[in-house]
Amino acid sequence: MKSDQIKPASRFFQGEKSILITGATGLIGSHIAGYLLKKGHRIVVLIRSKGNLNAVQRFQSLCDFLEISRGLLSNLTIVEGALDKYSFGLSTSTYEKLCDQIDCIIHCAGNTTFSAKQRAESERDNITGLNNVLEFGRHSRCSWFHLMSTVYTAGKKTGMCDEKLDEPGLFTNVYEETKYRGEQKTLDFCRKNGIGFTILRPSIVVGDSHDGRTFRFNGLYYPLKALFLIRNMFRQDLISGDGKRAKRMSISYKNGKIHIPLRLEFNPVEGINLVPIDFVVKAVCSIIQTPQNGGIFHIASKTNVTIAELIEFTHNFFDITGLSTVSTGFFSTYNKTPLECLFDGYIEPYLPYMKDKRSFSTKNTDKVLSLIGITCPVFDYDLFSRCMNYALDNKWGKELQVC
Ligand SMILES: NC(=O)c1ccc[n+]([C@@H]2O[C@H](COP(=O)([O-])OP(=O)(O)OC[C@H]3O[C@@H](n4cnc5c(N)ncnc54)[C@H](OP(=O)(O)O)[C@@H]3O)[C@@H](O)[C@H]2O)c1
Repeated sequence: MKSDQIKPASRFFQGEKSILITGATGLIGSHIAGYLLKKGHRIVVLIRSKGNLNAVQRFQSLCDFLEISRGLLSNLTIVEGALDKYSFGLSTSTYEKLCDQIDCIIHCAGNTTFSAKQRAESERDNITGLNNVLEFGRHSRCSWFHLMSTVYTAGKKTGMCDEKLDEPGLFTNVYEETKYRGEQKTLDFCRKNGIGFTILRPSIVVGDSHDGRTFRFNGLYYPLKALFLIRNMFRQDLISGDGKRAKRMSISYKNGKIHIPLRLEFNPVEGINLVPIDFVVKAVCSIIQTPQNGGIFHIASKTNVTIAELIEFTHNFFDITGLSTVSTGFFSTYNKTPLECLFDGYIEPYLPYMKDKRSFSTKNTDKVLSLIGITCPVFDYDLFSRCMNYALDNKWGKELQVC
């Protein structure tokens, strides 16, 4: 098929065929699946089995969380398969039947580990998995392929990052590198095979802007959870124990607040780019409704939340004091306390994303969203509180029956 023969997406959105969503047990894929089902679209989700749960059981466990009613399930097909296997490990007849059904793919599956030790798994999920989905796109003569990528394919680039595919630069970790290679592969493959494509690049996703709902507590949540656990552990020691352990860490109880002396080597204007999941879903679904072939879209906030703001939010919300910033290089002269060593160990993989001086151009996304009057919610103290209240109410995900 030649690229000038790519079918307009509206044909698909009239419901003739189905949308294939990968990564539908993940945060972004599941929310997109739920949203499209509620809008009346027919979708197919490709899910692998895990532990002793099959694909159907896994997606069913998400339906309550996503508030997908029984009535909507007639538009849903669940296929059990693994992306890293050629033809997803399906029998020839099942694969061919699936090829016949699908006209559009939203590829949300991916491996989000930053660890170099897990390079093989990252490559399996972000490269081999993607290749197999692209091959499926070719076999199914699918019209549109939408790749869920990340703004962080920019790697170590500084300043303003544009919505375009840059030359490969330096990357912070295996995640950024494999996601960048995935974008390049998608562009080459889709152009060669006449498949329309878009590249969707969210920044760091947090809970719903209205009520903080989420079932993933990584990214922003991880360092805050560490701080919350440190606070609780030493509060217990100070209030109902002998306080010796707290004293060893210089943690004290002052004016009803726990004082945790933690110096963070940050420039206070450095920050983190956060987007609520409901905004990501609406942005993605608007972009793919009238897609622009080859379009790259940053789904990011116009402003980073600065580390100074995050410290203020954290002090207020968790009733603590003592967090402060020190200038870069401070710890090459002064030693870290044991508490600082412990906390830095927790946040180390996230530091490049918390110390961001980059900004992400959202011109392409704005053009689409301005037509429907949607803007990215500002991550202020109210939104921070909603996210943290939800995290605490659900014990950072332990209370949620989602698998
Ligand atoms: N969350 C964020 O803050 C964020 C920000 C920017 C970009 N992104 C991108 O968005 C995408 C989705 O992120 P997410 O937060 O939704 O991730 P997530 O919650 O970790 O979900 C990842 C999904 O990918 C699936 N998957 C991975 N490898 C697979 C394989 N070999 N076979 C079948 N399924 C496989 C997982 O299935 P299982 O449940 O079976 O493991 C899961 O459904 C990723 O590509 C990520 O790069 C995420």
